[in-house]
Amino acid sequence: MDDTFDLPLEADLADRREPAALRKKLFIKSYGCQMNAYDAQRMSDLLVDFDETQLLTEADLVILNTCHIREKAAEKIFSELGKVRAAKRARRANGRDMKIVVAGCVAQAEGEEILRRQSAVDIVVGPQNYHRLPELLRRSDESRIVDTDFAIEDKFDHLAKPAPGKTRERGVCAFVTVQEGCDKFCTFCVVPYTRGAEFSRPVAKILAEVEDLAKEGVKEISLLGQNVNAYHGEGPDGRPWSLARLCARLAEVPGIVRLRYTTSHPNDMDEALIAAHRDLPALMPYLHLPVQAGSDKVLAAMNRKHGRDAYLDIIARLRAARPDIALSSDFIVGFPGESEADFEATLDLVRRIGFASAFSFKYSPRPGTPGAEMPDQVEEKVKRARLAQLQALLEEQRQAFNNSMIGKTFSVLFEKKGRHPDQIAGRSPYLQSVQVTAPDGLIGAVLPVEIVAAGSNSLFGRLCAAEAGTGA
Ligand code: 5AD
Ligand code: SF4
Repeated sequence: MDDTFDLPLEADLADRREPAALRKKLFIKSYGCQMNAYDAQRMSDLLVDFDETQLLTEADLVILNTCHIREKAAEKIFSELGKVRAAKRARRANGRDMKIVVAGCVAQAEGEEILRRQSAVDIVVGPQNYHRLPELLRRSDESRIVDTDFAIEDKFDHLAKPAPGKTRERGVCAFVTVQEGCDKFCTFCVVPYTRGAEFSRPVAKILAEVEDLAKEGVKEISLLGQNVNAYHGEGPDGRPWSLARLCARLAEVPGIVRLRYTTSHPNDMDEALIAAHRDLPALMPYLHLPVQAGSDKVLAAMNRKHGRDAYLDIIARLRAARPDIALSSDFIVGFPGESEADFEATLDLVRRIGFASAFSFKYSPRPGTPGAEMPDQVEEKVKRARLAQLQALLEEQRQAFNNSMIGKTFSVLFEKKGRHPDQIAGRSPYLQSVQVTAPDGLIGAVLPVEIVAAGSNSLFGRLCAAEAGTGA
């Protein structure tokens, strides 16, 4: 862990009541998906009496924003809590306190059990209730609290705007949650239980958030949702808007030059969204579209509600609309009943499509999901061998994709300083990290870069001559 913490900017402190030294410190750590990272920022924004620290031992308040998607992720929280408890004890020995909050999906799923297993925890709060944190903190002086009921009010109406300067500190790329929850009930997945039913935020609220971010220098927005392409929020005309229409509107916001969205379900890839990849230059030619498996039998057992041909057809239509689109996916190996032939069908699908990147996992039976109760659970050593084989293929494809970039020129949004002092780093349209020798003043700019080399995790490029000369 990095033992430094960022001092707040002067401007950031100007409108606050306490001098910096007297203000309380928040250590917040997020696990799992990008929506958790977004939620952690919103929690930090809500807690206006606290400044963030990267140093656990000086924290007055510790929040672990947890992930429940696989067993490993959930169990990790309890080992992390052991470390936090030791820090709390050390502080108490010095006459100072530390409140400990467990938020996120483990909080939602385990509730009281967390208080039972870890006596140092003060508050357990689910992902739909974290807007109540300031009040929960006040109440927690009297007793330990679990707040995991699905809130009736819309939490987004109760969130705070970032303090002045905070958005700039967070950089030129921002996440915005537009949709939450899931009604699909894939048989392996805890999300419908931890995040609840599908909900789309109204267009006007998303637009206002994006406009605020753009005014603070944000250039790229990633729209987030567990089923983001099922988005159907209320538009200004009182009717539901699709994700395609939302993207078209957000692309008009001055300053926003790049849009992405994640995570999608194949069944919600409608014609309008496919067409948006052809028609909207701001919509990046990169799509994370999880397929999970390549065999019809396994897809049916997973309750994915589509077969392999439907997925191949969507990919073909996307490529027809946007020939340079790069694809990414999630895969699960060793789902109950998966035979060697089923697994081969997954490898075959991967070979047919060719992915630019991917995440792949061994099936992890999650309590309360139908998959956990299914017969024919696959042996651990079989899962391990299949995962290794799949990952080797996906890695080969990723490297081939990166190598195919050499000699090409495309736009890079520069986000931060690079690995070496004279370098800056940004992302390609296909989400690859790109390192370029250029001055820091270009951070925030989108400029054409010619790729000259590909490493295992980054591309290396040079600014195209005109831009390098003008410094624009
Ligand atoms: N076991 C393994 N992987 C899972 N995922 C979701 N639930 C499980 C599980 N029980 C994976 C899926 C999903 C990604 C976010 O996590 O591939 O798309
Ligand atoms: Fe989970 Fe995604 Fe399936 Fe919903 S669509 S149940 S979030 S894997």
